[in-house]
Amino acid sequence: MAKFQTFFSTFFLTLLFASLVSATFYQTISPDQLRAREKLTHIRFYFHEQITNEKPSLLIIDPPKIMADSPLPFGSMVVIENRLTIGPDVESKRIGKAQGFYLSATQRPGLDLEIVMSFTLTFLEGEFNGSTLCVSGRNEIMLPVREMPIIGGTGAFRFARGFVHARSVKVDYHKGDATVEYNVYVYHYSSTTSSSHHQRVNEGLNFMTDPILSKI
Ligand SMILES: *[C@@H]1O[C@H](CO)[C@@H](O)[C@H](O)[C@H]1NC(C)=O
Repeated sequence: MAKFQTFFSTFFLTLLFASLVSATFYQTISPDQLRAREKLTHIRFYFHEQITNEKPSLLIIDPPKIMADSPLPFGSMVVIENRLTIGPDVESKRIGKAQGFYLSATQRPGLDLEIVMSFTLTFLEGEFNGSTLCVSGRNEIMLPVREMPIIGGTGAFRFARGFVHARSVKVDYHKGDATVEYNVYVYHYSSTTSSSHHQRVNEGLNFMTDPILSKI
């Protein structure tokens, strides 16, 4: 009898627990809880690709043996950790870094490359220190200005959407070094309820670390 009772109480407790879990594994949140308004920010910096540096900022992964008449044959993958600076000079103040990769995605020979890039911009200075933006898109490098979408972000850039314009400033096609001006246009949120930076980033957006949701 005792065993029977134990079985049933365990059974009902399990049921109760299961229903609690299923009731809390997601929830709808009113966008009003953001307590923030959407704003548009423009950021400009310079992106430096330095292959001739003693510590190169990029690595070419296993270039395919076909189409040797291209500096970056179709299918090549390049991994980058590039310095972002405030001015066109690589020695000017560093404000962040770009990390990610790109693929050579055209079968046309020569320098007229079409690459598909996917990288993260991490800011290391100022209001956006520690926040990141995610860029993913096609880059036809010989065009004067290339546009790529911003597909998201973290920190101050949660819910980010926008685009970047990339414009080559200095390119050494023989060595492979390049300096590219980036103009970022991004919609993101800023809290209207507080003034300090830390609060601006976190207040109103802290439901994203809601203890209920973090148990998933
Ligand atoms: C950026 O944030 C990091 C980590 O919180 C901190 O160590 C660093 O001092 C900050 N840099 C600036 C320039 O505020």
